[in-house]
Amino acid sequence: EQKVELDGKNDCLVFNATDGIELALSDTVLCEAHRILSALCGGWCCIKAFQDNLAKGKCSHGPEVDYPVLETEALYIRKAGEEIRDQLYCFEDRGNRRVALRPELTPSLARLVIQKGYYSCLILRPSANIGVVVQVFHGLKIRAIKSVPLPIKWFAIGQCWRYERMTRGRRREHYQWNMDIIGVPDVTGEAELISSIVTFFKRIGITAKDVGFKISSRKVLQEVLSLYSVPEASFAKACIIIDKMGKIPMEEIKKELQAVQLSNEAIEDLLQVLSMKSLTELEEKLGSAGEAVSELKQLFSLAEKFGYTEWIQFDASVVRGLAYYTGIVFEGFDREGKLRAICGGGRYDCLLSTFGGDDIPACGFGFGDAVIVELLKERKLLPELPLEIENIVCSLDPDLQGAAATVATILRGKGQCVDLVLENKPLKWVFKRAARINAHRLILVGSAEWQRGMVSVKILSTGEQSEVNVDELEANSEQPKLE
Ligand code: HAM
Repeated sequence: EQKVELDGKNDCLVFNATDGIELALSDTVLCEAHRILSALCGGWCCIKAFQDNLAKGKCSHGPEVDYPVLETEALYIRKAGEEIRDQLYCFEDRGNRRVALRPELTPSLARLVIQKGYYSCLILRPSANIGVVVQVFHGLKIRAIKSVPLPIKWFAIGQCWRYERMTRGRRREHYQWNMDIIGVPDVTGEAELISSIVTFFKRIGITAKDVGFKISSRKVLQEVLSLYSVPEASFAKACIIIDKMGKIPMEEIKKELQAVQLSNEAIEDLLQVLSMKSLTELEEKLGSAGEAVSELKQLFSLAEKFGYTEWIQFDASVVRGLAYYTGIVFEGFDREGKLRAICGGGRYDCLLSTFGGDDIPACGFGFGDAVIVELLKERKLLPELPLEIENIVCSLDPDLQGAAATVATILRGKGQCVDLVLENKPLKWVFKRAARINAHRLILVGSAEWQRGMVSVKILSTGEQSEVNVDELEANSEQPKLE
């Protein structure tokens, strides 16, 4: 347990609960134990995909991560005047520390990467005790042995809170799917991330006619502003102001840009560039030597190879509303223009250093649950996810409740999913419940059969019934498909 000081070395927030017990919230790379638990808390509803993966040994280094929902407020305080800062659900805890419900996952991810350590090259040496000692280098610095190899490719699905005005697809509490790649400096990272989202869209039945991605780069702004000797410190602030375009009157935008030391000439030039929707036009303005144009061109060329060109378009007005983006930025939008951004992300090469780590190239995205659900509803694509339970086990006599529990345990031991009826209920009720939970078979534990070590098994789809020896209760031939 360590107190959190945002120096990038410590990792968790420690609370004094009322009874004096210290409670530590800490980050986790969800590991095999977590996954096994997830799979097995499934006595009721086992997640087959997890089990299959476990069986194949796929889960031992899962790329799924999780972070505390409650963090220090300081983790989200950046100076650029972001909306997210005013939207924090924050308060003082019992130890007089300012804490906040997380509005996003990226700062926690940055801290976790710093805490875990990372390496870009490995040297293996023989050692008396453990066979090899792993010495870890990053550049010339020797880093902690607890390390993860770069590039890191992690995903997380977490609940986030923002005090927002609630509109369609915008809530005060939402879930965000995040994917991030740490350690890849090239736009191959962004191209891969967008490809993941496109794959997801396709899988849920959304096409390029429904949604698209607007893509730009913060380097476009940087290159324009550098023509006017705008101070470095104004850059992030200017991005945040520009992100408000369309939300507040243009006169306000101009005033705010003036307030961060942009001359009228710079503002006019910037606004003209921001209206560009073609890369050729941008290249004419900025030339082809700069990183903005060359990276964007490379990304569009990669998109062709990935096969998602029809999904993407250049739009210089996209800057995104978070201060830490440094390069490519993108957002998913619905082509009918009825909804707010479906997802958004970009490159953030300097975030880790703001928490005391080294600068490591990073990019990622956040994809909320609210807007996509609206879109799926509209397109009538919301999938039905019925419960599918393999067995419902019921005793026919209150005295046989223990016997029914034994049957449930045997089946669960064989990896089966079991709903055990816990009260003495009439058969009519049991059949109704079996239908509601989509049970494949009903196992009745009756007194006469039980004395012979048998139970009655009814396949609910066919009505076929048989007596089966308890020890020979096998898995269903027809397994429900639990993804
Ligand atoms: P963001 O653009 O603030 O980025 O949010 C990402 C996505 O979260 C939005 O596009 C939207 O889908 C969803 N979202 C945000 N706020 C709400 C809300 N109030 N209600 C419903 N959905 C919402 C970030 O948060 C970055 N941390 C993403 C990122 C990850 N960048 C790099 N890695």
